Amino acid sequence: MQAAVTRKAASVTDYRALAKARLPHFLFEYVDGGSYDEVTLRRNVEDLRAIALRQRVLRDVSAIDLSAELLGKRWSMPVGLGPVGLSGLYARRGEVQAARAAAAANVPMVLSTVSACSLREVAACGHVPWYQLYFVKDRGFVSHLIARANEEGCSALFLTVDLAVPGSRYRDARAVGGRLRRAAEVLARPSWLWDVAIRGRPISFGNLEPIVGKSAPLADFQRWIHDNFDASVSWKDVAWVREQWKGPLVIKGVLDPDDAREALAHGADGIVVSNHGGRQLDGALSSARALPSVANSIGGKIPVLADGGVRSGLDVVRMLALGADFVLLGRAWAYALAGRGEAGVAHVLKLIEAEMQVAMALTGCASIAEIDEALIDRR
Ligand code: GLV
Repeated sequence: MQAAVTRKAASVTDYRALAKARLPHFLFEYVDGGSYDEVTLRRNVEDLRAIALRQRVLRDVSAIDLSAELLGKRWSMPVGLGPVGLSGLYARRGEVQAARAAAAANVPMVLSTVSACSLREVAACGHVPWYQLYFVKDRGFVSHLIARANEEGCSALFLTVDLAVPGSRYRDARAVGGRLRRAAEVLARPSWLWDVAIRGRPISFGNLEPIVGKSAPLADFQRWIHDNFDASVSWKDVAWVREQWKGPLVIKGVLDPDDAREALAHGADGIVVSNHGGRQLDGALSSARALPSVANSIGGKIPVLADGGVRSGLDVVRMLALGADFVLLGRAWAYALAGRGEAGVAHVLKLIEAEMQVAMALTGCASIAEIDEALIDRR
Protein backbone atom coordinates (compact mmCIF):
# COMPACT_ATOMS: atom_id res chain seq x y z
CA MET A 1 0.00 0.00 0.00
CA GLN A 2 1.16 3.51 -0.78
CA ALA A 3 2.21 5.81 2.07
CA ALA A 4 -0.63 8.20 1.24
CA VAL A 5 -3.08 5.43 1.97
CA THR A 6 -1.87 4.31 5.36
CA ARG A 7 -1.77 7.69 7.04
CA LYS A 8 -4.91 9.06 8.67
CA ALA A 9 -7.26 10.68 6.18
CA ALA A 10 -7.42 14.42 6.87
CA SER A 11 -9.03 15.64 3.66
CA VAL A 12 -11.16 14.59 0.72
CA THR A 13 -7.96 14.14 -1.29
CA ASP A 14 -6.79 11.58 1.27
CA TYR A 15 -10.10 9.76 0.95
CA ARG A 16 -9.63 9.64 -2.80
CA ALA A 17 -6.32 7.84 -2.23
CA LEU A 18 -8.03 5.44 0.15
CA ALA A 19 -10.81 4.81 -2.37
CA LYS A 20 -8.25 4.06 -5.05
CA ALA A 21 -6.56 1.54 -2.79
CA ARG A 22 -9.80 -0.17 -1.74
CA LEU A 23 -11.95 -0.32 -4.88
CA PRO A 24 -11.45 -2.66 -7.82
CA HIS A 25 -9.84 -0.67 -10.62
CA PHE A 26 -12.94 -0.51 -12.89
CA LEU A 27 -15.09 0.81 -10.05
CA PHE A 28 -12.58 3.47 -9.03
CA GLU A 29 -12.30 4.58 -12.65
CA TYR A 30 -16.09 4.83 -12.84
CA VAL A 31 -16.44 7.15 -9.83
CA ASP A 32 -13.25 9.12 -10.40
CA GLY A 33 -13.50 9.64 -14.13
CA GLY A 34 -15.18 12.20 -16.37
CA SER A 35 -15.99 12.36 -20.05
CA TYR A 36 -13.55 12.65 -22.94
CA ASP A 37 -10.32 14.41 -21.87
CA GLU A 38 -11.86 15.42 -18.54
CA VAL A 39 -11.44 19.13 -19.25
CA THR A 40 -14.68 20.05 -17.49
CA LEU A 41 -13.93 17.68 -14.62
CA ARG A 42 -10.65 19.54 -14.03
CA ARG A 43 -12.26 22.94 -14.56
CA ASN A 44 -14.83 22.18 -11.88
CA VAL A 45 -12.07 21.76 -9.32
CA GLU A 46 -9.66 24.38 -10.62
CA ASP A 47 -12.11 27.22 -11.29
CA LEU A 48 -13.58 26.83 -7.84
CA ARG A 49 -10.16 26.75 -6.21
CA ALA A 50 -9.13 29.86 -8.12
CA ILE A 51 -11.81 31.95 -6.40
CA ALA A 52 -10.00 34.19 -3.92
CA LEU A 53 -11.94 34.99 -0.77
CA ARG A 54 -11.68 38.39 0.93
CA GLN A 55 -9.92 38.05 4.22
CA ARG A 56 -11.61 40.30 6.80
CA VAL A 57 -10.50 40.96 10.36
CA LEU A 58 -11.83 42.06 13.76
CA ARG A 59 -15.50 41.34 13.07
CA ASP A 60 -16.52 39.29 16.14
CA VAL A 61 -16.96 35.84 14.73
CA SER A 62 -17.21 34.14 18.12
CA ALA A 63 -20.61 32.63 17.25
CA ILE A 64 -21.05 31.23 13.77
CA ASP A 65 -24.33 29.70 12.62
CA LEU A 66 -23.97 27.35 9.68
CA SER A 67 -27.58 26.24 9.55
CA ALA A 68 -29.62 26.75 6.40
CA GLU A 69 -33.11 26.01 5.19
CA LEU A 70 -33.94 24.11 2.04
CA LEU A 71 -37.22 22.66 0.81
CA GLY A 72 -39.04 23.18 4.07
CA LYS A 73 -36.42 21.96 6.50
CA ARG A 74 -33.60 23.48 8.51
CA TRP A 75 -30.30 21.62 8.05
CA SER A 76 -27.08 21.87 10.06
CA MET A 77 -25.31 23.38 7.05
CA PRO A 78 -26.12 24.17 3.41
CA VAL A 79 -24.55 20.92 2.24
CA GLY A 80 -26.07 17.62 1.13
CA LEU A 81 -25.04 14.30 -0.37
CA GLY A 82 -25.83 14.50 -4.08
CA PRO A 83 -26.85 11.48 -6.15
CA VAL A 84 -23.93 9.24 -7.14
CA GLY A 85 -24.56 6.20 -9.31
CA LEU A 86 -23.57 2.76 -7.99
CA SER A 87 -22.44 4.24 -4.66
CA GLY A 88 -23.88 1.21 -2.89
CA LEU A 89 -20.95 -0.74 -4.28
CA TYR A 90 -18.28 1.49 -2.77
CA ALA A 91 -18.95 -0.06 0.63
CA ARG A 92 -21.29 -2.78 1.88
CA ARG A 93 -24.91 -1.63 1.28
CA GLY A 94 -23.20 1.71 0.73
CA GLU A 95 -26.17 4.03 0.24
CA VAL A 96 -27.61 2.90 3.58
CA GLN A 97 -24.32 3.70 5.30
CA ALA A 98 -24.22 7.12 3.64
CA ALA A 99 -27.83 7.86 4.61
CA ARG A 100 -27.01 7.05 8.25
CA ALA A 101 -24.09 9.48 8.19
CA ALA A 102 -26.29 12.15 6.58
CA ALA A 103 -28.99 11.61 9.21
CA ALA A 104 -26.50 11.93 12.07
CA ALA A 105 -25.13 15.17 10.60
CA ASN A 106 -28.62 16.51 9.81
CA VAL A 107 -27.90 17.03 6.13
CA PRO A 108 -30.04 15.83 3.21
CA MET A 109 -29.20 13.03 0.84
CA VAL A 110 -30.43 12.55 -2.72
CA LEU A 111 -30.61 8.91 -3.76
CA SER A 112 -29.68 8.10 -7.36
CA THR A 113 -32.05 6.15 -9.61
CA VAL A 114 -29.03 3.99 -10.39
CA SER A 115 -28.21 3.24 -6.77
CA ALA A 116 -27.37 -0.29 -5.67
CA CYS A 117 -29.67 -0.21 -2.63
CA SER A 118 -33.33 0.40 -3.34
CA LEU A 119 -35.16 3.47 -2.12
CA ARG A 120 -37.08 1.22 0.26
CA GLU A 121 -33.91 -0.18 1.80
CA VAL A 122 -32.38 3.28 2.27
CA ALA A 123 -35.59 4.83 3.60
CA ALA A 124 -35.84 2.05 6.19
CA CYS A 125 -32.85 3.53 8.02
CA GLY A 126 -35.13 6.40 9.04
CA HIS A 127 -33.62 9.21 6.95
CA VAL A 128 -35.88 9.16 3.89
CA PRO A 129 -33.73 10.54 1.08
CA TRP A 130 -34.83 12.85 -1.67
CA TYR A 131 -35.11 10.88 -4.87
CA GLN A 132 -33.21 11.55 -8.09
CA LEU A 133 -35.08 10.54 -11.21
CA TYR A 134 -33.82 9.74 -14.70
CA PHE A 135 -36.00 9.38 -17.74
CA VAL A 136 -35.74 5.91 -19.16
CA LYS A 137 -37.51 4.98 -22.39
CA ASP A 138 -40.29 3.11 -20.64
CA ARG A 139 -42.46 5.98 -19.33
CA GLY A 140 -44.67 3.54 -17.46
CA PHE A 141 -41.61 2.64 -15.45
CA VAL A 142 -40.79 6.30 -14.81
CA SER A 143 -44.32 6.65 -13.44
CA HIS A 144 -43.67 3.62 -11.27
CA LEU A 145 -40.49 5.24 -9.88
CA ILE A 146 -42.37 8.44 -9.10
CA ALA A 147 -45.07 6.44 -7.35
CA ARG A 148 -42.40 4.60 -5.32
CA ALA A 149 -40.90 7.93 -4.24
CA ASN A 150 -44.37 9.00 -3.14
CA GLU A 151 -45.01 5.77 -1.25
CA GLU A 152 -41.70 6.01 0.62
CA GLY A 153 -42.51 9.56 1.67
CA CYS A 154 -39.70 11.30 -0.25
CA SER A 155 -40.22 14.99 0.22
CA ALA A 156 -38.54 16.13 -3.02
CA LEU A 157 -37.84 14.79 -6.48
CA PHE A 158 -34.62 15.73 -8.30
CA LEU A 159 -35.06 15.35 -12.03
CA THR A 160 -31.71 14.96 -13.78
CA VAL A 161 -31.88 16.48 -17.25
CA ASP A 162 -28.27 16.45 -18.45
CA LEU A 163 -28.09 12.79 -19.42
CA ALA A 164 -30.25 12.53 -22.53
CA VAL A 165 -27.32 10.61 -23.96
CA PRO A 166 -24.27 9.46 -22.01
CA GLY A 167 -20.99 11.34 -22.44
CA SER A 168 -18.14 9.18 -23.73
CA ARG A 169 -16.04 8.18 -20.80
CA TYR A 170 -12.64 7.06 -21.99
CA ARG A 171 -11.57 5.77 -18.60
CA ASP A 172 -14.60 3.51 -18.39
CA ALA A 173 -14.03 2.29 -21.92
CA ARG A 174 -10.42 1.47 -21.07
CA ALA A 175 -11.29 -0.09 -17.73
CA VAL A 176 -14.10 -2.32 -18.94
CA GLY A 177 -12.54 -5.64 -19.77
CA GLY A 178 -13.86 -9.14 -20.07
CA ARG A 179 -15.02 -11.25 -17.13
CA LEU A 180 -11.51 -12.53 -16.47
CA ARG A 181 -9.99 -9.08 -16.20
CA ARG A 182 -12.81 -7.88 -13.98
CA ALA A 183 -12.38 -10.93 -11.77
CA ALA A 184 -8.64 -10.26 -11.54
CA GLU A 185 -9.32 -6.66 -10.49
CA VAL A 186 -11.76 -7.83 -7.85
CA LEU A 187 -9.32 -10.45 -6.55
CA ALA A 188 -6.70 -7.71 -6.25
CA ARG A 189 -8.96 -6.03 -3.68
CA PRO A 190 -9.73 -8.88 -1.24
CA SER A 191 -11.20 -6.65 1.48
CA TRP A 192 -13.70 -5.16 -1.02
CA LEU A 193 -14.44 -8.65 -2.35
CA TRP A 194 -15.25 -9.93 1.14
CA ASP A 195 -17.00 -6.84 2.44
CA VAL A 196 -19.05 -5.76 -0.58
CA ALA A 197 -19.19 -8.49 -3.22
CA ILE A 198 -19.74 -11.37 -0.78
CA ARG A 199 -21.25 -9.99 2.44
CA GLY A 200 -23.00 -7.13 0.62
CA ARG A 201 -25.20 -9.21 -1.67
CA PRO A 202 -27.46 -8.83 -3.57
CA ILE A 203 -25.50 -6.71 -6.01
CA SER A 204 -27.98 -5.07 -8.37
CA PHE A 205 -29.71 -1.81 -9.23
CA GLY A 206 -32.16 -1.86 -6.34
CA ASN A 207 -34.63 0.58 -7.92
CA LEU A 208 -34.50 -0.90 -11.38
CA GLU A 209 -34.92 -4.59 -10.58
CA PRO A 210 -38.51 -4.63 -11.89
CA ILE A 211 -37.29 -3.85 -15.41
CA VAL A 212 -33.72 -5.04 -15.56
CA GLY A 213 -33.74 -8.06 -13.28
CA LYS A 214 -31.36 -8.82 -10.47
CA SER A 215 -28.00 -9.01 -12.17
CA ALA A 216 -27.98 -7.97 -15.82
CA PRO A 217 -27.03 -4.28 -15.84
CA LEU A 218 -23.91 -4.34 -13.72
CA ALA A 219 -22.31 -6.61 -16.26
CA ASP A 220 -22.16 -3.62 -18.58
CA PHE A 221 -23.41 -0.52 -16.87
CA GLN A 222 -22.44 1.85 -19.68
CA ARG A 223 -24.22 -0.20 -22.31
CA TRP A 224 -27.31 -0.39 -20.16
CA ILE A 225 -27.35 3.40 -19.74
CA HIS A 226 -26.86 3.81 -23.47
CA ASP A 227 -29.73 1.49 -24.34
CA ASN A 228 -32.26 2.72 -21.81
CA PHE A 229 -31.88 6.46 -21.47
CA ASP A 230 -34.22 8.54 -23.54
CA ALA A 231 -32.76 11.08 -25.96
CA SER A 232 -36.23 12.35 -26.94
CA VAL A 233 -36.83 13.90 -23.52
CA SER A 234 -37.93 17.57 -23.60
CA TRP A 235 -39.55 20.26 -21.44
CA LYS A 236 -42.91 18.58 -22.23
CA ASP A 237 -41.74 15.63 -20.15
CA VAL A 238 -40.97 17.95 -17.27
CA ALA A 239 -44.59 19.08 -17.42
CA TRP A 240 -45.59 15.39 -17.48
CA VAL A 241 -43.55 14.72 -14.31
CA ARG A 242 -45.02 17.84 -12.71
CA GLU A 243 -48.51 16.41 -13.21
CA GLN A 244 -47.61 13.21 -11.39
CA TRP A 245 -45.44 14.61 -8.63
CA LYS A 246 -47.13 17.13 -6.40
CA GLY A 247 -44.20 17.75 -4.07
CA PRO A 248 -41.12 19.93 -4.66
CA LEU A 249 -39.48 19.26 -8.02
CA VAL A 250 -35.84 20.21 -8.48
CA ILE A 251 -34.29 20.24 -11.96
CA LYS A 252 -30.70 19.03 -11.86
CA GLY A 253 -28.16 19.70 -14.57
CA VAL A 254 -28.78 23.33 -15.53
CA LEU A 255 -25.76 25.30 -16.73
CA ASP A 256 -27.33 28.01 -18.86
CA PRO A 257 -29.42 31.03 -17.77
CA ASP A 258 -31.98 30.39 -20.54
CA ASP A 259 -32.53 26.84 -19.29
CA ALA A 260 -32.83 28.19 -15.75
CA ARG A 261 -35.63 30.49 -16.92
CA GLU A 262 -37.33 27.52 -18.64
CA ALA A 263 -37.11 25.56 -15.41
CA LEU A 264 -38.79 28.43 -13.58
CA ALA A 265 -41.49 28.65 -16.25
CA HIS A 266 -42.13 24.91 -15.91
CA GLY A 267 -42.79 25.19 -12.22
CA ALA A 268 -39.48 23.95 -10.81
CA ASP A 269 -39.10 24.42 -7.07
CA GLY A 270 -35.34 24.52 -7.34
CA ILE A 271 -32.48 23.88 -9.76
CA VAL A 272 -29.07 22.32 -9.44
CA VAL A 273 -26.32 24.04 -11.39
CA SER A 274 -24.35 21.03 -12.53
CA ASN A 275 -22.47 19.50 -15.43
CA HIS A 276 -22.87 16.02 -13.96
CA GLY A 277 -19.46 16.13 -12.33
CA GLY A 278 -17.74 16.67 -15.68
CA ARG A 279 -19.11 13.35 -16.88
CA GLN A 280 -21.28 14.58 -19.73
CA LEU A 281 -20.41 17.49 -22.07
CA ASP A 282 -16.67 17.85 -21.82
CA GLY A 283 -15.75 21.42 -22.64
CA ALA A 284 -18.82 22.77 -20.87
CA LEU A 285 -18.28 25.54 -18.34
CA SER A 286 -17.38 24.56 -14.83
CA SER A 287 -20.22 24.87 -12.33
CA ALA A 288 -18.30 27.68 -10.61
CA ARG A 289 -18.15 29.73 -13.83
CA ALA A 290 -21.76 29.04 -14.80
CA LEU A 291 -23.26 29.64 -11.38
CA PRO A 292 -23.36 33.48 -11.08
CA SER A 293 -25.30 34.10 -14.33
CA VAL A 294 -27.67 31.19 -13.67
CA ALA A 295 -28.33 32.40 -10.11
CA ASN A 296 -28.96 35.91 -11.46
CA SER A 297 -31.51 34.63 -13.94
CA ILE A 298 -33.38 32.90 -11.11
CA GLY A 299 -33.32 36.11 -9.09
CA GLY A 300 -34.02 34.44 -5.74
CA LYS A 301 -37.41 33.03 -6.84
CA ILE A 302 -36.43 29.42 -6.11
CA PRO A 303 -33.38 27.90 -4.42
CA VAL A 304 -30.27 27.42 -6.51
CA LEU A 305 -28.16 24.41 -5.62
CA ALA A 306 -24.76 23.68 -7.12
CA ASP A 307 -22.37 20.77 -7.41
CA GLY A 308 -19.11 20.09 -9.20
CA GLY A 309 -15.57 20.26 -7.86
CA VAL A 310 -16.43 20.72 -4.19
CA ARG A 311 -13.64 19.10 -2.18
CA SER A 312 -13.65 21.15 1.04
CA GLY A 313 -15.66 23.47 3.24
CA LEU A 314 -13.76 26.33 1.66
CA ASP A 315 -15.21 25.26 -1.70
CA VAL A 316 -18.70 25.24 -0.18
CA VAL A 317 -18.23 28.86 0.95
CA ARG A 318 -16.95 29.74 -2.54
CA MET A 319 -20.07 28.21 -4.16
CA LEU A 320 -22.29 30.17 -1.77
CA ALA A 321 -20.40 33.35 -2.59
CA LEU A 322 -20.93 32.65 -6.30
CA GLY A 323 -24.68 32.53 -5.78
CA ALA A 324 -25.65 29.05 -4.58
CA ASP A 325 -28.11 28.62 -1.72
CA PHE A 326 -27.09 25.03 -1.09
CA VAL A 327 -24.25 22.77 -2.22
CA LEU A 328 -24.25 19.08 -3.11
CA LEU A 329 -21.24 16.83 -2.68
CA GLY A 330 -20.61 14.04 -5.17
CA ARG A 331 -17.19 12.42 -5.35
CA ALA A 332 -16.28 13.94 -1.97
CA TRP A 333 -18.68 11.63 -0.15
CA ALA A 334 -18.28 8.72 -2.56
CA TYR A 335 -14.51 8.59 -1.94
CA ALA A 336 -15.12 8.72 1.81
CA LEU A 337 -17.67 5.92 1.61
CA ALA A 338 -15.24 3.80 -0.39
CA GLY A 339 -12.45 4.59 2.05
CA ARG A 340 -14.14 4.09 5.39
CA GLY A 341 -17.87 3.48 4.92
CA GLU A 342 -20.31 5.36 7.13
CA ALA A 343 -17.49 6.60 9.39
CA GLY A 344 -15.72 8.06 6.35
CA VAL A 345 -18.82 9.95 5.18
CA ALA A 346 -19.44 11.20 8.73
CA HIS A 347 -15.82 12.34 8.90
CA VAL A 348 -15.95 14.20 5.58
CA LEU A 349 -19.12 15.99 6.69
CA LYS A 350 -17.35 16.99 9.92
CA LEU A 351 -14.33 18.20 7.97
CA ILE A 352 -16.53 20.27 5.68
CA GLU A 353 -18.33 21.78 8.65
CA ALA A 354 -15.07 22.65 10.42
CA GLU A 355 -13.56 24.10 7.23
CA MET A 356 -16.66 26.21 6.67
CA GLN A 357 -16.43 27.53 10.22
CA VAL A 358 -12.85 28.66 9.65
CA ALA A 359 -13.56 30.12 6.20
CA MET A 360 -16.53 32.06 7.54
CA ALA A 361 -14.62 33.31 10.57
CA LEU A 362 -11.75 34.57 8.44
CA THR A 363 -14.04 36.24 5.92
CA GLY A 364 -16.02 37.86 8.72
CA CYS A 365 -19.35 36.03 8.27
CA ALA A 366 -21.35 34.85 11.27
CA SER A 367 -24.21 33.29 9.29
CA ILE A 368 -24.87 31.72 5.89
CA ALA A 369 -27.10 34.67 4.93
CA GLU A 370 -24.07 36.96 5.14
CA ILE A 371 -22.21 35.05 2.42
CA ASP A 372 -22.58 36.76 -0.93
CA GLU A 373 -20.52 37.95 -3.89
CA ALA A 374 -18.87 40.63 -1.73
CA LEU A 375 -16.86 37.74 -0.25
CA ILE A 376 -15.01 37.30 -3.54
CA ASP A 377 -11.77 39.25 -3.78
CA ARG A 378 -11.56 40.49 -7.36
CA ARG A 379 -8.28 42.40 -7.11
C1 GLV B 1 -24.56 8.31 -13.67
O1 GLV B 1 -25.24 9.18 -13.24
C2 GLV B 1 -23.21 8.51 -14.09
O2 GLV B 1 -22.77 9.67 -14.16
O3 GLV B 1 -22.54 7.51 -14.35
